[in-house]
Amino acid sequence: MRNASHIAFDRRYPSVEDLRAKARRRIPAFAFDYLDGGCNEGVALSRNRTELQQVQLKPSYLKPYAGCNLETELFGEKYAAPFGIAPIGLQGLIWPGSPEILARTAKTQGLPFVLSTVGTASLERIAEVSEGTAWFQYYHPADPAVRDDLLRRAEAAGYKVLVLLCDTPTFGFRPGEIRSGLSMPPRMTPANLFQMLGRPGWLLKTLHAGTPRFANLQPYMPEKLDLAGLGRFMDGFFNKRQTPEKIAYVRDRWKGKLVLKGVSTLEDAETAHRLGLDGIVVSNHGGRQLDAGPSSIAALRQIAPAYASKMTVMLDSGLRSGPDIARALATGAAFTFLGRPFMYGVGALGNRGGNHVAGLLKSQLRQVMEQVGCERVAELPQHLL
Ligand SMILES: Cc1cc2nc3c(=O)[nH]c(=O)nc-3n(C[C@H](O)[C@H](O)[C@H](O)COP(=O)(O)O)c2cc1C
Repeated sequence: MRNASHIAFDRRYPSVEDLRAKARRRIPAFAFDYLDGGCNEGVALSRNRTELQQVQLKPSYLKPYAGCNLETELFGEKYAAPFGIAPIGLQGLIWPGSPEILARTAKTQGLPFVLSTVGTASLERIAEVSEGTAWFQYYHPADPAVRDDLLRRAEAAGYKVLVLLCDTPTFGFRPGEIRSGLSMPPRMTPANLFQMLGRPGWLLKTLHAGTPRFANLQPYMPEKLDLAGLGRFMDGFFNKRQTPEKIAYVRDRWKGKLVLKGVSTLEDAETAHRLGLDGIVVSNHGGRQLDAGPSSIAALRQIAPAYASKMTVMLDSGLRSGPDIARALATGAAFTFLGRPFMYGVGALGNRGGNHVAGLLKSQLRQVMEQVGCERVAELPQHLL
């Protein structure tokens, strides 16, 4: 029988909360708050956690049990476990080199890594590092020539899954980011400089890696932008509100799998299905966009029964542990993603952080499945109380 001792993770950090606490001591406050915070009053952020934690699983202690298998098939690929690494914009600001670290983790651990359009490594670089296993999250550029060029680059680099986002018609209203100058246009304040000096490990690595850049957008950006110019550029660059027409256009051109992320209602799930998408990620962007909206698990409870047999229904927002992944799968998700936990891991442990989080989650998920008497991830719904 396997137990936690068979899985590689650093025993000093047996929970995501331990990693979060350590990351907070290693990352300047403005960058940590950017990663950690929600929007407005942080209601959606905490609702994601509290409502997920209310999901209960039913153990079957006396049933014959032949061991558990975490392998999950998704879009024709076999993954080692039913979770992946969600896209995070400006990742390299939180920890230098983090997109590369996490793309490598994903490859080693048999998981999908999703690169953000506004990530700090180029899609070509991540395709190389992940050996063609990464997915690409595509924000819609306003200029049709750039829109087509970005799609062409993703296809040429060998991406098989494209993720469109629908929950960012506006920038989320995030008081922490506004205070620290990370909203658009960004500002470099004396307080931020002071915070950087207080985190010498982060500062040295950042000086070595160079200022984080929007690597995917570099070919389309004017040279030598100051911060105010960057704000104006970013504001005009994306056509933020998603529409059925824009999705249909991409569906027409993109030959690979197409996923819509940020779905939280039956209506949007229906539109995704009607437009021929292969899957959706039920998500509220980790509580960063609509404070007054539903938790992702509440949205999943509505959407999964109606659409899980028609397309691949996945979930993110608020998952912090193996039991949380099991709760989401039991509620009807075919797959899950985690955003902040992997970044806390990298912030806390650098290059080792991604593997640590993946190992921790695999071991915790295995333990829950053994505890409830579930052999395969697809059978978890039978254990929903
Ligand atoms: C700092 C930060 C930046 C993010 N940037 C993006 C992004 O560029 N594109 C995207 O699709 N989602 C983005 N997200 C949302 C994540 O992909 C994911 O939906 C969310 O983090 C899941 O919640 P969790 O952090 O509780 O796991 C971001 C999330 C965070 C925390």
